[in-house]
Amino acid sequence: METTLVSQSLDRVEADAVVVLLFEDDAAPAELKGSSAWPSAWIDELRASGEFTGKTGEIAVQHLPQGLKAKRLVVAGGGKRDKFDAPALRRAVGTAVRALKQKGVKTLAFLLAGADPEAAVEGAILGNFEPDRHKTSSDAKSLDTFVLIAPDSARAAFERGKILGDAQNFTRELVNEPANLMTPSLLAERARAMSAEVGLECEILDEPRMRQLGMGSLLGVAQGSAEPPALIIVRYKPATPAKTSDHLGLVGKGVTFDTGGVSIKPADGMEKMKYDMAGGAAMLGAMRAIAQLKPAIPVTALVPAVENMVGSKAQRPGDIVTSLSGKTIEVLNTDAEGRLILIDALTYAQRLGCTHLVDAATLTGAIVVALGNVNIGVFTNNDALLARVLAAAKAEGEKSWPMPLDDEYKDLLKSAFADLANIGGRWGGAISAAYFLKEFAGDTPWVHLDIAGTAWLDDAKPFLAKGPSGVAVRTFTRLALDW
Ligand code: BES
Ligand code: ZN
Ligand code: ZN
Repeated sequence: METTLVSQSLDRVEADAVVVLLFEDDAAPAELKGSSAWPSAWIDELRASGEFTGKTGEIAVQHLPQGLKAKRLVVAGGGKRDKFDAPALRRAVGTAVRALKQKGVKTLAFLLAGADPEAAVEGAILGNFEPDRHKTSSDAKSLDTFVLIAPDSARAAFERGKILGDAQNFTRELVNEPANLMTPSLLAERARAMSAEVGLECEILDEPRMRQLGMGSLLGVAQGSAEPPALIIVRYKPATPAKTSDHLGLVGKGVTFDTGGVSIKPADGMEKMKYDMAGGAAMLGAMRAIAQLKPAIPVTALVPAVENMVGSKAQRPGDIVTSLSGKTIEVLNTDAEGRLILIDALTYAQRLGCTHLVDAATLTGAIVVALGNVNIGVFTNNDALLARVLAAAKAEGEKSWPMPLDDEYKDLLKSAFADLANIGGRWGGAISAAYFLKEFAGDTPWVHLDIAGTAWLDDAKPFLAKGPSGVAVRTFTRLALDW
């Protein structure tokens, strides 16, 4: 989809549809009140009939509007004006895009009317995404062009929105690919291609190299698959050296398919486990945006990519592995594999000089029990870094909720035969998983995002298709930009 900004008046814009937001408690956008292009009789009638009240998600379409060049004038509900913020705008634009593209609209113009250009463009780009690449014929239609009607002063924010929306859809494409088309090697190839495209450094550690380094925890997970593992490393360096020695490390879980291994998962719903690399894909999406938006600090992304399979070479419950850190782990459940690959990447990130670590992972079903599909669960060993991450998430409208990590939880991970067990029993499963990671973050400030409940939409929303959400891409990009 093309995205452009025009600074014309509404009546001069050529499009299949121009969309104007109307609120529950407002008659017309300020700049249109009294304008001859504004069909107040139609609007009054819509309101009087109760057909349109201004609630979020509502839409009314007038064809061949008088005095406008556009083929349709669309009013879309913005909800209550005093509750209207960037997330509400993102949703409203996404909803209009999804409703109108299905009606055959190819060029959609949106009157910004003083709202946030960044969120508006993001809403359009995200709403236009369909997870239908592999359908030879699809009912889902798409916009060709989104036109933002806004003053020229909105251009910088508009460009940022474009970069962030595209980065998030890049992540969604990766996550949506089935596991036969998104093996660790193929994910590494995508990372390489993306890096070349936007000017990032990309290095892939292969199995022999990881063995040489001593990444026994990661390799234990990988050994059950015929697909070789890869540790994807993508580096961004600011053109002018940063004033601080801070170096942000972004570590993302890249399990391209999670059968559970020998501790196998139930068949029902297992197909969804192609999204178990959503954390890694979010980091690659964030790096893509970071390369274009150029924050002042160096950022290194590490994506340990493996396939968790069953087979004669797969690791067994009870196996003991030695991690890169030297700590030994008793693998009591092969389905708790995310933490096993992440810890070797976390240790390696510290060796690469990262001073602050943030990881994202579809780590536990337990976080879905705790927070549902609404909030990301956030864990930390450092309140200052936590505050930064939560501020970035809030600014980007990605709901996140801090979870506890008291020392008492450590007891859950006791093993009779190794330094640590890889599972912590029935209760507080998202916390024991996070605690396991914490043991390997050491003194380095670290924040962990469990995105198991938020990285995939089981049902479409009016503003987003079913499937991968691309959550956390915007948060991580903002975190780096605001450092
Ligand atoms: N990838 C799963 C977590 C998951 C579950 C993500 C549901 C998305 C939806 C992870 O590897 C896993 O299987 N975790 C286990 C841990 C358990 C064995 C301690 C879980 O959550 O059941
Ligand atoms: Zn698992
Ligand atoms: Zn998993």
